[in-house]
Amino acid sequence: MKISIGCDHIVTEIKDHLVEYLKEKGYEVIDNGTYDKVRTHYPIYGKKTAEKVVNGEADLGIVICGTGVGITASANKVKGIRAALVRDVATAKYAREQLNANVIGMGGRITGIGLMENIIDVFLETEYKETEKNKKWIEKIDGLIEEDSSIGDEHFFDEFLEKWEKGEYPNE
Ligand code: RB5
Repeated sequence: MKISIGCDHIVTEIKDHLVEYLKEKGYEVIDNGTYDKVRTHYPIYGKKTAEKVVNGEADLGIVICGTGVGITASANKVKGIRAALVRDVATAKYAREQLNANVIGMGGRITGIGLMENIIDVFLETEYKETEKNKKWIEKIDGLIEEDSSIGDEHFFDEFLEKWEKGEYPNE
């Protein structure tokens, strides 16, 4: 199974740890960055990670930022993604089993590394259990985004990146 993973600068070392953890377990990993502690912004990495899942390069995705909120919300805006922000094992199981979630989001400043590993294990090992009911919910959820014109657009965040380069954003 191939896993797409991404994070912002707040949690780079946690993402790096999880990449190694996944590889040791035998998963193939696409590491979308970020790769250092230089200030960046989570939508870039939510989008990159999610796109690999939607285009079939990866089977499932993992996104991490400080709280998990921003990067999970960003991944969810990519058409075809059902991303679940998770802080416990039961939610991870539900997300896969009932919602066929294809991306999991976590907060590196909220959830401890041991629990993150347990959440990932359950998310990757649980299979979607299709029922007539959840199939319809999923179809409705997927139908909420009609099209995504940003897919494959390398310059989608250029305006923000230029401002960061100029130091127009405070360091946080
Ligand atoms: C830092 O940019 C911080 O806001 C981010 O990592 C995250 O916590 C957002 O949800």
